Amino acid sequence: MSINQFEQQHFEQQRFDQLVAKLDWSILSGDAALQLQDRMAQEGASLWNLLCDIYPAHSVENILADLLSKLLFSFSQRAERLKQKDNTLLTTDPWYLDHSQVGMACYVDRFATDLSGLKLKIPYLKQLGITFLHLLPLYESPAGDNDGGYAVSNYRKVNPILGDMQQLRELIEECNQNGIHIVLDFIFNHTSDQHRWAQKAIAGDLKYQDFYFLFDDRKVPDQFDPYLREIFPHVRRGSFSYRSDIKKWIWTTFNNYQWDLNYANPEVLCSVVDEMLFLANTGCDVLRLDALSFIWKDINTNCESRPNAYKLIALLNICLRIAAPSVLFKSEAIVHPDDVAKYIAPTRCQLSYNPLLMGLLWSSLATQDTDFINQSLQHRFAIDENCAWVNYIRCHDDIGWFFDDDDAKTVNLDLDKHLSCLNQFYTQKSTNNFPSGVTFQNDPSIDHQGVCGSLASLCGLEKAITNNDQSAINLSIKRVNLLHSIILSIGGIPLIYSGDELALLNDYQYLEDSTQSHDARWVNRPKITSQAIDLAQKSGTPQSQVYQALANMISLRKNNPIFGNAKTQIVNTGNNHLFAYQRVNKNGNTLLAICNFSDLPQSFGLDKLDPSIHLDNPLELITNRKIKVSQDSILSLSSYQVMWLLS
Ligand code: GLC
Repeated sequence: MSINQFEQQHFEQQRFDQLVAKLDWSILSGDAALQLQDRMAQEGASLWNLLCDIYPAHSVENILADLLSKLLFSFSQRAERLKQKDNTLLTTDPWYLDHSQVGMACYVDRFATDLSGLKLKIPYLKQLGITFLHLLPLYESPAGDNDGGYAVSNYRKVNPILGDMQQLRELIEECNQNGIHIVLDFIFNHTSDQHRWAQKAIAGDLKYQDFYFLFDDRKVPDQFDPYLREIFPHVRRGSFSYRSDIKKWIWTTFNNYQWDLNYANPEVLCSVVDEMLFLANTGCDVLRLDALSFIWKDINTNCESRPNAYKLIALLNICLRIAAPSVLFKSEAIVHPDDVAKYIAPTRCQLSYNPLLMGLLWSSLATQDTDFINQSLQHRFAIDENCAWVNYIRCHDDIGWFFDDDDAKTVNLDLDKHLSCLNQFYTQKSTNNFPSGVTFQNDPSIDHQGVCGSLASLCGLEKAITNNDQSAINLSIKRVNLLHSIILSIGGIPLIYSGDELALLNDYQYLEDSTQSHDARWVNRPKITSQAIDLAQKSGTPQSQVYQALANMISLRKNNPIFGNAKTQIVNTGNNHLFAYQRVNKNGNTLLAICNFSDLPQSFGLDKLDPSIHLDNPLELITNRKIKVSQDSILSLSSYQVMWLLS
């Protein structure tokens, strides 16, 4: 059939209804069937139209028949508890906008050895106030190097060293009972080469060869490669790997053993939806859409954030709205801020990492200047009011810098030069700079390298301890507190990387392990030992000062709704060492946060503030002191000090 024949596949209610009627409804009870039919009816037109757009050369009815049967089957397998959770979410205020939410990301083995160990850590998490826990990939993966679990061999099997699926389901239920939402990774741009689909492709099965991008020669790779960004150039130049056993070139955006899936094949979409719904049925609350910007390839483009990538995300979102509506998407788009923003919508990803804020925080800390963060966030922080940023300072990856060139120009920064300066500032050991970062992909032929390192080490604690320099230790603690304060208060869910709450330093053990030594990101994936926890409990240690300050700010957040659903406005103080923002909520409460990025005291006159900024003898929350202010008052902040002024 020619492409044109399918281009006319307009949505017709009757044709959709017929597809729904043909499904095997006997596997569901009457009420459940009605509920699902209702949801399918609501989403039918959007589903149909998106499929037409993405797959004009295929029969939409054939794809839909397959997709709908998968939705029905997965709903029939969904536990009653989860169906209740679905109903609750549909009728209550979105939990993820609430000020009670505080996140943490951890590797299960590094944090708690395995899933049973993680259960025992629930009290620890609760004590700190964690309500949103991202378990970094815990699926079956190739032994040895597996990109920290981001090469999945089986989405339905937990890595046996951590436990099994049943344990995962039980853990999620117990976390939920303790008020902790669980985020699981959905790694759907690629599978490992040991996944069943890849294995069949290797064995010569043509159906599964079409699940990936396999080429007999370099003809097609050579057409694409010049446009593509190299993600791990220290592993391999270009985005294709040669497999001598099958004599083929394979599209591998990341490592050679991570094979990109071919979403132009609708069978891939349907199979991936099946895996996604399986994961949704574990009971998790959020699926983190890993590397989502790479999922669609168009010739003569960089194959990132293509229009069809957004459409595919909308389509996956609809599948969840039908079969597991309490599950949300978190976007992991570490790309240009314009593209990050486009993934964020109630109909795409309700949550998104905020890589721009992350990068700007490190940039401001390095330069002690806030012009760039002020300029960028003024027009880039606002998102749909039913969506939330996930604000982080460090994660399991390197710090990748993604700023906008025009934002940089507006504040007289040459972006290329600035990025080189930042990389040097955070990684050069020989200088007097405070950070102890490690270069990611340390190869002079690579243009923009990233920075690895733990929060505390990048803020100067490692060098300060080595030099036994108490005033440097104090400054490093202040820097950590400053950054924590911002992710906790600026609006969205703060996400702490496990170990940063304990001020853990870089972990250089990865250099001893041949499966990790080539990947500096392991330096910021430390093991959480009981000694580290004890040190943070021992009063007077730098670690305990970080932990206590963080715990205090978390408890302030939990006690004040202003930290939840409210609008954020970036505030100009006229002092380019200060970063300030105002938050106003529906009850008329106002918070003015002022952050000093300088290691010297700074002040500003309140007369410099826009008259719309509301300050009515505010309470400074962190010190719990009332402050008397008038139009002509001057506010002074010590080095790296933060003020949270609540009116
Ligand atoms: C994401 C992960 C990163 C991984 C990559 C490929 O960016 O955060 O750790 O290497 O995807 O899956």
